[in-house]
Order: sequence, then structure tokens, then C-alpha cells
Amino acid sequence: MSELIKSSLFKLKSKKILNPELDLRLLLNNTNKNKKEIILSNLEEKFIDIKTFNAYLERRLNYEPISKIINKKSFWKYDFYVNQDVLDPRPETELILEESLNFVKNKKKYINILDIGTGSGCLAISLAKEFINAKILAVDISKKAISIANKNIVNHNCLNQIKTKSICFSKVYDKFDLIVSNPPYLSISEYKKTSISVKKFDPKIALLGGIDGLLFYKYFSKKIPKIMKKNSYLILEIGETQGSKCIELLCKSGLKLIKKSKDLQKKDRILVFSKV
Ligand SMILES: C[S@@+](CC[C@H](N)C(=O)[O-])C[C@H]1O[C@@H](n2cnc3c(N)ncnc32)[C@H](O)[C@@H]1O
Repeated sequence: MSELIKSSLFKLKSKKILNPELDLRLLLNNTNKNKKEIILSNLEEKFIDIKTFNAYLERRLNYEPISKIINKKSFWKYDFYVNQDVLDPRPETELILEESLNFVKNKKKYINILDIGTGSGCLAISLAKEFINAKILAVDISKKAISIANKNIVNHNCLNQIKTKSICFSKVYDKFDLIVSNPPYLSISEYKKTSISVKKFDPKIALLGGIDGLLFYKYFSKKIPKIMKKNSYLILEIGETQGSKCIELLCKSGLKLIKKSKDLQKKDRILVFSKV
């Protein structure tokens, strides 16, 4: 084993970083000037850009997620540019795509979609790729997030389908066939319990949903039914304990719950509502 690997693994392990070998592989591959994939045992140090590697390692030792260091996170079928201005797309959010495909059967339909709190634009862009005739409005209150979403929209050639606006969702007045959102939904106490990586490197505005985490669902119950067309759908991500409260709030506002969808841990994470 090379000295570089030995000393880097030692440093990562001493910081109790969860998957040191995997992280090291990713950092080496992202600073490798050779095309060949590094699997540690085949490392040829002469191809590593050592200055960049050391800077990346230092950042990882400071608990920065690999995605933020290499500015890349995979979601659905694509890679997205990410940095500290946007939440890293999470696997459970892909369920929103699955349910959109379940409920909007005709992928060529001319539909209007709203993505509330678009962040990196991962949902809006993946929806645009699946529903090729859809027109999508992606809003986010954070100007910095919208500029990252715009970068991803250009990278994925979706300018003709997606319009972004840096506004609060309460300022949206058009009507839509499908509304999706993964809003901030952590309570203050849940936020305090998140890892150093999340607290230091994901934007707080993307995570905190008021004292009890339900703030956005309360606002949504007042606003969203007014901007849904007849026979339209609302697909929402929720925190694992928020199901019954969210259902109560949105059903009181006249929407009908049509599906609860579970994540791999068998927790309800996605709610699908319709407006008839
Ligand atoms: C949990 S993140 C979701 C990001 C992305 N959609 C995803 O699933 O990875 C929530 C996003 O909502 C945005 N946000 C917070 N308050 C908002 C508001 N009032 N109106 C619109 N967007 C808001 C945040 O800036 C953040 O980008």
C-alpha cells in the first residue's frame, strides 16, 4: 500500500469518517490525470494532482461531504452540480419522480408543472426529461439556489422547458397540472440533531420547517389548492413522522389523499393528493 493511501486512510479514520476507503477512492479519482479508474490497489501516484488532492482531503477531514468537494451529486438518471448554496439531492426524493410517472401516465402530454423549492433543480430537470412536452416553473426563495438550478438547467439542455424564479411560492398565481415539492421540514430539535456535515454544508433555509417542522405544509394547505387545475396532482415529500398531520392539513383544505409512498426504511415519505 502506498504511503499516500496509508497516511490518508489514517487521517480519515482518526476523524471517524464513515467510509474512509470509498471516500479516498473518490478523492483520488477526482484528482487523477489518468483515465484509468483507481481502486486503491492500482494507484499510480505520478498521475495524481497532489496539491488538489491534499486540499480535497483537508476539506473532507473538516467533514465537508464529498459531493460538495467534487461539486457533483447523482439523482435519478443524472449528475447535478452542487455546492454549499443548495441541498444535496437525496435518494428518497426520487420517489417524487416515481409517483409522477405513476399518476401522469401520458409522458407526452402538454402539462404545466410547478416545483416548489427547486434547490439544485434536480426535480424540475428530471421531470423535464421524463415529460418531454411539459412546461415547468421552478421557484426558490434563495437567489443562490436559483443560480445553481440555472447552471444545471443549461448543463442538461432544459432551457426550453424550465423557467426559474427566485420568489417565495406564495407569489405564484398560475395554475398547474402537477405540483411537486420537497420543502424544508425539519423541526428545530431535529435540525439540532443533524450531522456536522449537514449543519455546516447544507443551507439551513433548505432544511428548517419552523418549530415543529410543519410550517410549509401549513402554508401549502392555504395556497396550493388555489393554484391546482381540475384533475391535478400534488406530490409532496414529508418527514418520517409527519404523515398524519400533513394529511389532516391538506385534506381539510379540500384535497384528496390518493397515495402514501414509503422509503427503503418502510417509512411514509411521499404523499400524493389530487384535486377533483
Ligand atoms: C429541502 S430543499 C429541496 C431542494 C430540492 N428540491 C431537492 O429536493 O433536492 C428546500 C428548498 O426550498 C427552498 N425554500 C425555502 N423557503 C422557500 C419559500 N418560501 N419559497 C420557495 N422556496 C423556498 C430552499 O431554499 C431550498 O432550496
